[in-house]
Parts: sequence; C-alpha cells; structure tokens
Amino acid sequence: MKSYQMLIDGEWVKAGSGKTFDVLNPATGAVMAKCPEASDHDVDRAVRAARRAFDEGWRDVTAQERGRILLRLAERMRKELPRLAEIETKNSGKPLTESEYDLTDVATCFEYYGGLATKLHGEVMNVPDNAISMAMREPLGVAGQIIPWNYPLLMAAWKLAPAICAGCTMVIKPAEQTPLTLLEFAKFFADAGLPKGVVNVVTGFGETGAAIVAHKDVDKIAFTGSMEVGRIIMRSAAETLKKVGLELGGKSPNIFFADADFEAAVDGALFGVFVNQGEVCSAGSRVLIQKPIYKKMLDAMVAKAKTIKLGDGMDRATKMGPVVSREQMERILKYQAIGKQEAKLAVGGGRPTQKDLQKGFYVQPTIFYDVKNSARIAQEEIFGPVMSVIPFDKEEDALRIANDTPYGLAAAVWSRDIFKCMRMVKRLQAGIVWVNHMQPTYVEAPWGGYKMSGIGRELGPWGAEEYMQVKQVHINLNETPIGWY
Ligand code: NAI
Ligand code: MG
Repeated sequence: MKSYQMLIDGEWVKAGSGKTFDVLNPATGAVMAKCPEASDHDVDRAVRAARRAFDEGWRDVTAQERGRILLRLAERMRKELPRLAEIETKNSGKPLTESEYDLTDVATCFEYYGGLATKLHGEVMNVPDNAISMAMREPLGVAGQIIPWNYPLLMAAWKLAPAICAGCTMVIKPAEQTPLTLLEFAKFFADAGLPKGVVNVVTGFGETGAAIVAHKDVDKIAFTGSMEVGRIIMRSAAETLKKVGLELGGKSPNIFFADADFEAAVDGALFGVFVNQGEVCSAGSRVLIQKPIYKKMLDAMVAKAKTIKLGDGMDRATKMGPVVSREQMERILKYQAIGKQEAKLAVGGGRPTQKDLQKGFYVQPTIFYDVKNSARIAQEEIFGPVMSVIPFDKEEDALRIANDTPYGLAAAVWSRDIFKCMRMVKRLQAGIVWVNHMQPTYVEAPWGGYKMSGIGRELGPWGAEEYMQVKQVHINLNETPIGWY
C-alpha cells in the first residue's frame, strides 16, 4: 500500500495534523493507498503559495512559455499513459480501455491549451472620439478547482490546462474517492518547468473543498459535481463574491424517432447510459422511443444489456466495472428499488449474483420501461447504469418530455430526417445536443449546461475565458484640456 503526500508550494507534504484517509479499489473494496486529509490550515498554506506564485513571477511568464509547459505535460502524459491508466482503473473501477481513452483525452486537452496560450488576445474598439479604446484580457488570479470521481484525471485536466493557459495559479482538490492519478500527474510538474506554487494539490473531503471555496484570496471556483454541493458552493462564494463555474449533473434525454437507423439506435441508447458504469454527468438516462419501434427496440436493448460483461476493470474482457464506492452503490440500489415501484423492470435491478463480484461495488446494468417522466427515476440523477425508457407519439411530445426536467446538460436525437433533427436541435433546452450519436466530447467544443445543470462553459476558448477578466483601457489622444469648467 502506498502513502501519498500532497503538493504545496512545490513541496510534497503531509497534512499539518498528520491525518490521513484510505483510498479504496472499488473492484475489491481493499485499501490501496493513504492520502493526507488537508485542514483549513493546509488549504490556507496552499492558497498563500498560489497567491505568491501569481504575484511574484508567474504573471510575467510569457504565453509562449506557458504553452510550452502545457505541451511538455501532454508529452509526459502520453509517455506514462499505460502506468497511469492502470492506476485510474484500480482507483475508479472503470474498464482499462476507458481509462486509456480518458488519459489520451487528458494529453489532447493539454496540447490544445498549449496551442491556445499564444492566441488569447485583446481587442481594439472603434469609439466616437480621438482615442484608442482597448479591451485587455488578464488572468483572474488564484483559482480553486474541485474535482469529481467519475473521470478523475480528465476532469482535473479540463480545469488545470485552461487555467495554466490563461495565466492563473491554482489550488486543486481531487475527489476523496479518486485522488491518485492527479497526485501521480503532479509529479510531472517540476520537470515540465512549472514554477513552484503555480499548481497546488490538496487532498481531502468536502470540508477541504469548502475551505477552498471560503478562502478570501481565491478569485474563482471551478466545480464539477452534484447539484446539492453546487448550491452550497454558490452560497459560500457569495460571501467573497468569487466568480463561480459549475458543471453539475443531468437527466439527459436520448430521443429515438421511428425512422432512426435501428442498429445504431440500440447501440447508441446502451452506450449513452452504460459507459463508465453510467457515472457520467451527460448520461442519456432517459431513453425516449417513438411508439412504432418502442417494443422492438426495448427487446433488442434488453437482449444486448444481458451480454454486458461485469468485472474488474483490469480484465480486458470487462465491459462494465464496479461503481466508485459503497456509498454510490447504495445510492444506485436505492433508486433501483424505487424504480420497481414506479415502473416495469426489464433487466437488472440489483447487485449481480456471481460469487467473484460480491466484494466489489458492482451493480447490474438496469433497464426500466413504461416510465412516466414524472417518476423519480426520470427526474433525479442516479449516476449509475440505470436506464428509464419512456414511450412517445409525436415530435411535440418528445420535445415536451425531453425539456420537462430541472436539468439541461445534454440531449441526443436520432432520426434520418434532417428537418426533424434540426427542429429538435433548436428547441431542446440543453447545453450540448448530439444528432445520431451520444457522448462524443471534443476539447475544441464548449461543454456545460442550461438550466440547473450549471453555470459557464469548459473546453475550447470558452474554457480559457472562464479564467480571465477583461480590462477596459481608454487612451485619450487629444492634447488639449476637456474645457468643461
Ligand atoms: P459531490 O458533489 O459531493 O463531490 C464532488 C466533489 O466536491 C468532491 O471533490 C467532494 O470532496 C467535493 N465537495 C463535497 N462537498 C463539498 C463542499 N461542501 N464544498 C466544496 N467541495 C465539496 O458528489 P458525491 O457526493 O461524490 O456524489 C453525489 C452525486 O453527485 C452523484 O450520485 C451524482 O449524481 C452527482 N455527481 C455528479 C458529477 C458530475 O459529473 N456532474 C460528478 C460526481 C457526482
Ligand atoms: Mg457529496
């Protein structure tokens, strides 16, 4: 078992209190590492280090150099990918192939922002005076970043890369369940030329996160996680009027019209909600199917769902690993029980019965059908492999059901009729809309939610913009007095 330390001001340190917490392998329930539990005091040290690094030097590092640092981190990521992918799988449960995809995306994210660093410019406005009016873009300062456990290193990359690109310094906290790959990645910082204090990594639970949010010297919070904690963060951030970026959950509709390609539809519906054990903020957990294909598609999905191989993610044959924690497993089991009251169960509905899966945090891929959109399993985020299938008649009905949710992260539409697809695209209340696919994500494209799914956008130039502020500069070119008085 490994004991990890956290990174504050370029030094690997224990918590001031000496406290640690256990990190588990969800496939076995065994402790795989110990990490420091950072107190308010440790967080304060990390924030001071970030502030100092920002004020004394980092703000003068050129965009070219920041870009080169990001590219070096990407290169190192690619080199160490097999080793880190194994740690990601052992710590989060996800199948190794999925960890490899995620960590490739980590490298791509650093490459993208490495290239973008030299392309963040200001603007010059035409104002009706003998003057030059400019808008300069400057880094916000110190960012606090709070990361969830479903894509442990990728969600960290989505926050670190744009913040370094924009010239901020930061204090980042991985989720208590999955801190290991970020701590491993942080070992590359010094070699990549990142000055000490620019990125500080603190580990701990919600209290550690709350201390970052409350700190008066943190200028911005970037958070991905639950709606519940998103609300708490916004309230706390109001005290110091920090900028807040939130990426919260969803109950995303995956909509299938009768004229969709049938095989693609079946695959797309299953992939949309079962990938990563369903622990995906944009999971297509509400599957809306037009009545003429409802029965046929349901039967085909059930037949295929039965073939999904559950097991340890380290086994290459595994298609679905354990969920991240006992707590998450129990949350999903609770919703499966609720679903049995609210709708009809087609497949799954509990824990798997295989003997070798009893120790890990496994749940069966589950499909409920004839679900009313008002049911709890259609309204509340489950964050597990649970699909709610809802029938619909007409385009208008699909649209009404799809938008009848407090969330608005993502949606997908499947049909061969471009007119119908584009009408849906225009009227779906979601920050991300896929047509004839669900889940592909690109660093070039904006990511974030409408309605209660969040505030702000990550990725692309939008992601860097979140870490900058705009300064208006007015340069008077008249050499005579105003002559007002
Ligand atoms: P959570 O929202 O409590 O945890 C996410 C992160 O926030 C972790 O790093 C955690 O330590 C931190 N945190 C917790 N309380 C905090 C506080 N008061 N102030 C600052 N930081 C705090 O999520 P949890 O409890 O692990 O999962 C609960 C549900 O949240 C899931 O079932 C799922 O529905 C949703 N969730 C959504 C995610 C997404 O990608 N949008 C990711 C993770 C969870
Ligand atoms: Mg929580």
